[in-house]
Amino acid sequence: MNENFKLYISKRPRRLRKSQAILNLCTETRVSVQDLILPVFVKEGLNGADEIKSMPKIYRHTIDSLLRYCQKALEVGINAIAPFPMVDAIDKSLDAREAHNPMSLANRAISAVKKHFPEMLVIADIALDPYTSHGHDGILDESGEWILNDTTVGILSDMAVSAAEAGADIVAPSDMMDGRVGAIREALDENNLTDTAIMAYSAKYASAFYGPFRDAIGSAPKAKGKTKKYLDKRGYQLNPANANEAIKEALLDEDEGADIVMVKPAMAYLDIIAKVKANTTLPVAAYQVSGEYSMIWASAQKGWLDYQRTRDEALVSIKRAGADMILTYFANDFIETNK
Ligand code: PBG
Repeated sequence: MNENFKLYISKRPRRLRKSQAILNLCTETRVSVQDLILPVFVKEGLNGADEIKSMPKIYRHTIDSLLRYCQKALEVGINAIAPFPMVDAIDKSLDAREAHNPMSLANRAISAVKKHFPEMLVIADIALDPYTSHGHDGILDESGEWILNDTTVGILSDMAVSAAEAGADIVAPSDMMDGRVGAIREALDENNLTDTAIMAYSAKYASAFYGPFRDAIGSAPKAKGKTKKYLDKRGYQLNPANANEAIKEALLDEDEGADIVMVKPAMAYLDIIAKVKANTTLPVAAYQVSGEYSMIWASAQKGWLDYQRTRDEALVSIKRAGADMILTYFANDFIETNK
């Protein structure tokens, strides 16, 4: 070791990493509670919440339990939720008619939340997968192999109107059918719901990271033998290999009247978030999906990763990539430890 070795350089970036105080001053990106949207799961019944096995600390709530959960969320500063219903088998059908029932579980949950907490922003998921007997996001044609685009969009439009009438501030089509944003905008406007915004899942990829979510809402097909086989949604969700197609979808949605565009999942698609952000003037949302949540939890439980640091690093990376807002199951936990 030569302690006298000297570099004659004028630029030493490490000067800005010398203390916590200077690190704080030079921090380019911060995640705050104001950026976060909390996805929540709701089920039928009373007075109950059961933890989702593959998603530690995330519960399926009955409506009354959801209200208590919202109260807690508001107390820590979370002002936006995205409810997802776990629909009973009896309400699932080939034509997904329950999707636009004004008294559906999802619509009852939306009304209850808005009635008790008018200040809580409610983002309603618009897609048919909780309501179809097969779990696809649309109506199948006779071959049983292909989703009928336009028929599906007709139902989604009715569903969006019913959710907005139940009180949703924002409707969020997550199905990836063509032309749905325009059709939903028209349907909302015709029903005098001109102030209901549309958050379009524009670049929603056919991702394996949705696994735990499908367990949570019971849209996963039955386990075959020991290995679970998830539905193949590549006929409508985006090919993970494609970036241009994501821009195309985002621009189409912007053209059709979307108010916010979304990229989903988040961490494996940071490049897409950055590109979409660069190509639109709309706010960009990113959805850190169930698999992203569970993967951090699982390795933390094994002692392989530090839970808090990986969680916070994942979130800041999504913001740094260009997301203006993040849907994340970590919302509560993140705020508890970053007050
Ligand atoms: C379906 C939908 C999915 C998610 C939200 N809405 C999954 C799917 O396409 O099967 C996934 C969310 C998550 O994994 O956290 N409309």
